[in-house]
Amino acid sequence: MRDTADSQDLLHWYDANARDLPWRVSPRARAGGVAPDPYRIWLSEVMLQQTTVAAVRTYFERFTALWPTVADLAAAEDAHVMGEWAGLGYYARARNLLKCARAVVTNHGGVFPDTPEGLLGLPGIGPYTAAAISAIAYDRPEVVVDGNVERVMARLHDIHTPLPTAKPELTRAAARLTPEARAGDYAQAVMDLGATICTPKSPACGICPWVNACAARAAGTQAELPKKLVK
Ligand code: ADE
Repeated sequence: MRDTADSQDLLHWYDANARDLPWRVSPRARAGGVAPDPYRIWLSEVMLQQTTVAAVRTYFERFTALWPTVADLAAAEDAHVMGEWAGLGYYARARNLLKCARAVVTNHGGVFPDTPEGLLGLPGIGPYTAAAISAIAYDRPEVVVDGNVERVMARLHDIHTPLPTAKPELTRAAARLTPEARAGDYAQAVMDLGATICTPKSPACGICPWVNACAARAAGTQAELPKKLVK
């Protein structure tokens, strides 16, 4: 009999294996009461849209050294910010970044809203980013679904429906697993699992905390999933 995937098993794995990322508060520090900075979580999530963690690292360090708070960024010259963004691509993101920083300062007293509903009205923040900020920065049990999470859920449940048709089903699977407690750590844990173990090619099933719950692993279909509609 296969096990049922348990979010606690993933959290235990994350406690020992969380990636050290410059915007992240480690699970140990978080358990000790250190809260992440919503500004840094927002900035990292905007940079990570369409860009890899490896590429984002140095840009993130540079931006936060130049502009340590959202108020600092809001007060920056447009050309300075656009110049520092050079190389990250998708320049609409940088323009929205400035608009969003200014809206947070002008309309929210410099504090990022804590709910997806509050965040969704801001420039450059779509459903994924709103859920990610709410979960990671404020520890709210929001369902965070990016490409990593879609892949993990498709494999866990051996879902062969192609993307994007499978999206609602994958989101429901993700929602069932999202815990009330430690939701921020959990959201980051699934992303880390997808980025380091449940990778698109040659997943490292032998060291996966969910190996005994994985329907694709049992069926031997993990390398084929998720399926995507051929354009
Ligand atoms: N990709 C996008 N957001 C991420 C996060 N918070 N942690 C790891 N990978 C991510």
